[in-house]
Amino acid sequence: MSHPGRLEKKVAIITGGGLGLGEGIARKFVHEGAKVLLFEINKTNGQKVAEFLGKDNATAFEGDVTKLDDWNSAVKNCIDQFGGLDIVVNNAGVVHNAQASYEVPESEYERIMKINVSPLYHSSKAVYPHFKQQGHGVFVNISSISAPRPRPNLVWYAGSKGAVSAVTKGLAAEYAKDGIRCNAICPVAADTGMISSVLGGTDSEEGRAVVIKGIPMGRIANAQDIGNAACFLASEEASFITGIELPVDGGRALM
Ligand SMILES: NC(=O)c1ccc[n+]([C@@H]2O[C@H](COP(=O)([O-])OP(=O)(O)OC[C@H]3O[C@@H](n4cnc5c(N)ncnc54)[C@H](O)[C@@H]3O)[C@@H](O)[C@H]2O)c1
Repeated sequence: MSHPGRLEKKVAIITGGGLGLGEGIARKFVHEGAKVLLFEINKTNGQKVAEFLGKDNATAFEGDVTKLDDWNSAVKNCIDQFGGLDIVVNNAGVVHNAQASYEVPESEYERIMKINVSPLYHSSKAVYPHFKQQGHGVFVNISSISAPRPRPNLVWYAGSKGAVSAVTKGLAAEYAKDGIRCNAICPVAADTGMISSVLGGTDSEEGRAVVIKGIPMGRIANAQDIGNAACFLASEEASFITGIELPVDGGRALM
C-alpha cells in the first residue's frame, strides 16, 4: 500500500536551497510531495538543484535573504507559481573561520550577524500576514548546536545562532494563536562546504577526527539528517510541537 508523502500539497520556501543542508532539505521535501522555491543568492546553484528536482516541483529564485524586498518578491513568486505558501525554512547562513574571538575581524562579525539573524526578521515581516490570513503556517529555522552549547573559537557564530534560537521561541509564543508554528534545528558539524571554516580554514581528515571524537555517535551530520528533521517539523506529525530547538547532533550536546 502506498502512502501519501508527509508534505503532500505543501509549498515551501527554502533559503540557501542551492547547496549543502538546504539542498538536502529541498530533496527530502520534494520526495515527500512538497513544491519548493529555492531562495538563493547563488543563481547557478539554485538553478542546478531546481533542474534536478524538476520544474513541476521546484523553482530557483535569485535573491538575498538579508533584503526585505527580495523576501516580498520570493513570497509573491512562490504563490504565483505554486498557488500558496505553507512552510518557510530559514536555512541560509554563514560561519567565520574558527579562531580566537578577539581576532575575528569586525567585518566578519557584522557579516555573520546580518546573514544569520536578519532573515528571521524579514521572513517574519514578509510571510506572517499570509500565514495569519490562511490560519496556518510553519517556520523551520536552522540554528546550530553551538547555540545551546557554545564552545571556544566559534563564539560570534554561536551568538548569531543563539539569536536564531531565541527568536524562534519568541515567535512561537507570539504566533501560536494564529495557528503558526516555529521551531529550530540545531545541527552538529555537517559534511558541507562549511566544514572547512568550522575546522579553522582547511578541511582535513585529522581535523574531522578531532570533531568526531566529541560526537558520541561517531560521525558528523549530513544533509539527509537535517532534511529528515526539517521534514518532520514541517509536517502534520509535528502539529503540536512549537518553540523547540531540536538537536541533530549524534549526542554532541551531552558531552
Ligand atoms: N555545515 C555545518 O557544519 C552546520 C552546522 C550547524 C548549522 N549549520 C547551519 O546550516 C545552514 C546551512 O549551512 P550549510 O553548511 O549548508 O552551508 P553552505 O555554505 O553549504 O550553503 C549555504 C547556502 O546559503 C546560500 N546563501 C548564503 N548567503 C545567502 C544570502 N544572503 N541569501 C540567499 N542565500 C544565501 C549560499 O549561496 C549557499 O548555497 C546554515 O544556517 C548554517 O549555519 C551548518
